[in-house]
Amino acid sequence: MLQKYSYSPKLRTGAVVRDIPVTDAPLPYFSLEDGVFSYRMSDDACVYGLGESVRGINKRGWIYEGWCSDDPFHTEDKRSLYGAHNFLLIDGADRFGVFFDYPTRITFDVGYSDPSLLTVTPGKMNLDVYIITGGSLKDIVREFRSLIGKSYIPPLFAFGYGQSRWGYVTEQDITAVADNHEKAGIPLDMIYLDIDYMDSFKDFTVNRERYPDFEGFVKRMRSRGFHLIPIIDAAVKREEGYSVYDEGHEKGFFCTDENGEDYVVGVWPGMSCLPDFLDPEASAWFGEKYRVLTDAGIDGFWNDMNEPALFYSEKALSAAFHDIKGYEGKTLDALSYFSARDVFTRLSNSQKDYESFFHNAPEGRFVHSDVHNLYGYKMTESAMNALKKLRPDEPTLLFSRASYIGAHRSGGIWTGDNHSWWSHILQSLQQMPGLNMCGFLYTGSDIGGFNGACTRDLLLRWLSFAIFTPLMRNHCAIGNRSQEATAFGDTEAFRHIIELRYRLIPYLYGEFLKAAENDEMYFRPLSFDYEDDPAAREIADQLMVGDRLMIAPVYTQNAGGRNIYLPEDMNLIRMSAGEITCEPVSQGRHYVSVPLGDVVFFSKGKLPLADPAKNTASLDFDRLTYIG
Ligand code: GLC
Repeated sequence: MLQKYSYSPKLRTGAVVRDIPVTDAPLPYFSLEDGVFSYRMSDDACVYGLGESVRGINKRGWIYEGWCSDDPFHTEDKRSLYGAHNFLLIDGADRFGVFFDYPTRITFDVGYSDPSLLTVTPGKMNLDVYIITGGSLKDIVREFRSLIGKSYIPPLFAFGYGQSRWGYVTEQDITAVADNHEKAGIPLDMIYLDIDYMDSFKDFTVNRERYPDFEGFVKRMRSRGFHLIPIIDAAVKREEGYSVYDEGHEKGFFCTDENGEDYVVGVWPGMSCLPDFLDPEASAWFGEKYRVLTDAGIDGFWNDMNEPALFYSEKALSAAFHDIKGYEGKTLDALSYFSARDVFTRLSNSQKDYESFFHNAPEGRFVHSDVHNLYGYKMTESAMNALKKLRPDEPTLLFSRASYIGAHRSGGIWTGDNHSWWSHILQSLQQMPGLNMCGFLYTGSDIGGFNGACTRDLLLRWLSFAIFTPLMRNHCAIGNRSQEATAFGDTEAFRHIIELRYRLIPYLYGEFLKAAENDEMYFRPLSFDYEDDPAAREIADQLMVGDRLMIAPVYTQNAGGRNIYLPEDMNLIRMSAGEITCEPVSQGRHYVSVPLGDVVFFSKGKLPLADPAKNTASLDFDRLTYIG
């Protein structure tokens, strides 16, 4: 059963697609006092959900926020990352799902202040709350997903492997990636273009020195089987003579300050303006700009910096230069030194800036801080609405960094700037079910880690997990050690693992399509499939993938294997040096040896396997063998 409770929302976020009448019944489970929703959890209750957040699959014991934030340190103490996914699924004495449709900062204290209390605190009482009850955990998710609409389905090539790096500057750099993978026989479908392809980081431009014949290059790469996937950032460089800026400025399509002047912020291109994605006209205008790249043959994009991320605002930067002068010539003690240093560091993503610019939504003018979480979502929607018209015959690959529930209908998301840390393999695994609950099925993390130094063993282990994530992209930041599958000398082990991904695509893509079609999760915690098994509830490092597969990746340094739990008898499938074998394993706990380079996973029943292929286009879906 689905019930809607309404507390004077000020605008339609667009998260839900079904019109549900507001119920007169009293709000169940929660008490509501002074703007705080409180629910007393039973001792055994698990709390699932909250999409892209840190910590385990069961969210109990920490405090989280729905607040899209650009934070490059995804440590355990963070309350929020790039997405705001305000859905919880409680499974204890009561079983229910709850969605807080609220476009700005909201706090979820899941037993942090009081171990048995869940409190949810929106800043203002302008929200809709949906409560879903009845049936299994899967039933509740299905009901929630039918409320928020169908998930985005990417083209088949988006299930291939992608190689990315901030710092591939020229056409030659991209060609070298293609050549190296080809030479090593490593399948590859996509090569990503980070901001370096642009002219001075200006959206919808191409640096013609680096790509003298961009259109020809895109075509040549396509004929070799590679899709080039450029990045688009939210902010538009303020530069007279740059047509995107000129038009946006003249038409009033940028967010403005209290006096109606364009609000100017610093992002990669320097001083820039923020398209007002909440204004339908501005949104349609920005989306149409993708044409310049689709006309060049581009069939996929990633949208970035759309929390929106602000390094500084023009006003705050000039105030900071003024403030810093006050420290000059003085003898600074430690505290005053720290405050001098903070004059600049506190400028990024500041609440004060978010409170200083405005949007023109159909419902009226809103200060950004009241609608913050919708920005990335609306950018994704702007792009997809346009891409459907620009490329009507084929789906376009699209994913975003920032998101709110609703964005799952227009694109996927990736989990942003993680690190080359072993703990981030596990974190990525643990993020997947929460994201799937909220409809984000096309998702994955930067394989190998975005920040920091990746090592050969880390990449092998990371790939062994990521071959199961729909979005499978190796990406890292400029200045880091190379971490392509071809960067560590011997390439055989990498080739075998990535080849396995391709062999599994008939199963993985099929299960993905089923999950999208039936409003189900592609990745599930074991407890969703084995509700009556208390041991399954505790497993936080294994996942079900589709109906018939279970993964239990190795995610610790120097481990030669790991402990696993089998909720029923299954087949252990092992890929070792390209050979695939299968043996039955009985229900219960086992230690499984997984030497570096091997991939082990488990199946219930038969799994189809394709022949090895160099890309998705050459996969033969008609010639399958079955294992298990
Ligand atoms: C942001 C993105 C990252 C990208 C970088 C440069 O940090 O999250 O993926 O490489 O910007 O565009």
